[in-house]
Amino acid sequence: MIEGLFIVLEGVDGAGTTTHTRLLADALRARGLPITTTREPSDGPVGVMIRQILSGRLVVPGISGPRPSSWSTMALLFAADRLDHVEATITPNLMDGVTVISDRYVHSSVAYQSVTGGGDADTIAWVRAINQHARRPDLTIVLDVEPAEAERRRAARSVTREIYDDAELQAQLGAFYRAIDEHFPDERLVHVDATRPVEDVARDVAHHVAVLRGEA
Ligand code: TMP
Repeated sequence: MIEGLFIVLEGVDGAGTTTHTRLLADALRARGLPITTTREPSDGPVGVMIRQILSGRLVVPGISGPRPSSWSTMALLFAADRLDHVEATITPNLMDGVTVISDRYVHSSVAYQSVTGGGDADTIAWVRAINQHARRPDLTIVLDVEPAEAERRRAARSVTREIYDDAELQAQLGAFYRAIDEHFPDERLVHVDATRPVEDVARDVAHHVAVLRGEA
């Protein structure tokens, strides 16, 4: 049995990772390829807990009132969720010959937890270290989007705020993602300009997958 391909879509909130995970899966399925889509935080037990923290449902009882978990607690939870996700969902599907497309993966931790942890070299190295046993993707597609456009999309889609929903943090994350390759020197990682209309972005995403598959 030939293993499936492991493809990851990445970017800031509002970059379009969820939309393009779906569009890429539809395009590949239409050609008869076995595909599964998944996401991080995953739908496993740790992922469900993380979503409760992101939405403010689960808090730390701080001295001056409830607050979200610290960046380092979040980094460890995301890493634990990731290894569980790999073990429970990603690897079994790949072994069955199914191509797995994940909406976010390690790169989100290296971006979000490093930036919220101060962005210094030690922090980045630690976040990478706790994720070192996470299986490497065959291809990671980073959707780069102008901060103002990402903010417009976030405002249009959600009524409830999550803990990383802050314009200044998201602008910092955008800059981090544009240069994220330097933290993944051994990976196949490409960037797509995602400020453009959805059809243009989807075409470029599909092109990068065709190149990976040796079709283009
Ligand atoms: P999403 O479902 O909208 O993609 O929300 C997930 C949020 O969690 C998003 O703001 C990115 C963030 N995140 C991290 O901070 N670290 C991670 O490792 C992952 C996977 C997501």
